Amino acid sequence: MSVAALAYIIFESPNADGWAAFLQNTVGLAPAAVAGEGLFFRLDDAAWRINVRPGATERFAVAGLELASNAQLDACVERLRAAGAPADENPALAAARGVLRLVQSADPCGNAIELIVGRTLGYEHFASPAGVSGFVAGDMGLGHVVLPAPEIEAARHFWLETIGLGLTDTMTFTLVPEIGPQTLYFMHADNARHHSVALFEAPSPTGLIHFMLEARTIDDVGRFIDRCERDGVHIASQFGRHSNDRMMSVYVMTPGGSMLEFGCDGLQIDWRSWIPTTSLVPDLWGHKFMGPPGVPAI
Ligand SMILES: [Fe+2]
Repeated sequence: MSVAALAYIIFESPNADGWAAFLQNTVGLAPAAVAGEGLFFRLDDAAWRINVRPGATERFAVAGLELASNAQLDACVERLRAAGAPADENPALAAARGVLRLVQSADPCGNAIELIVGRTLGYEHFASPAGVSGFVAGDMGLGHVVLPAPEIEAARHFWLETIGLGLTDTMTFTLVPEIGPQTLYFMHADNARHHSVALFEAPSPTGLIHFMLEARTIDDVGRFIDRCERDGVHIASQFGRHSNDRMMSVYVMTPGGSMLEFGCDGLQIDWRSWIPTTSLVPDLWGHKFMGPPGVPAI
């Protein structure tokens, strides 16, 4: 396993105030004092986990993946070059992100990624401004992202063989009858979280299908639902439990037009005894879809 965890995510937006209100007041993340472009947010003892930087349009910019060592990063760069993929080491950007090394790349569908070594830890106590008891993060990373992957088999090969994630499982189901069955690949890093990155066989105008944050308790999820109703945040998919990662969650629309999955009780796995499967349904119960058609709640 090459990747340790999903370290950070970066959005671009012309609406920093909207994102700040959403992430702090509704989601319950803490503002982070980081000398960089845009706004930074914390959810554990990492110096920052989410950055919203200025941009002309709402879009998901980058997923940052942490590797365990310089040797792992060097080996990954070799695999990227052999595959003809971008692999540009950028010391100035590493300094801006507060990491020791950073390599910029992108998957075959154009999803931008940064491979990093040597994340900064502030060890500052995380206290949620909205009263969330805490997030399941730390060594398991910030949560997960589901990336748009219209060329899903090329993307699958890139993420599994070139980047070095492990295949957790697969899901195939029909969300939109006119489109027919679509595939998701769920992939894990070298930690117990069911998936840190998943690929969905569809494009997305925002560059992201959704990102997921995992709170510690079901009460945190219930109170998040109350805050969404208080703050007028659209709940795109009602409370439910997924079949494969057992996450109990809701999906809400972010100010950027992509979705946040806010959940708890996700499966944690010992990979030595794991056997990948294919799920034919996304949910054990719930997750009634309330949003516009074609936007999956996965
Ligand atoms: Fe998810």
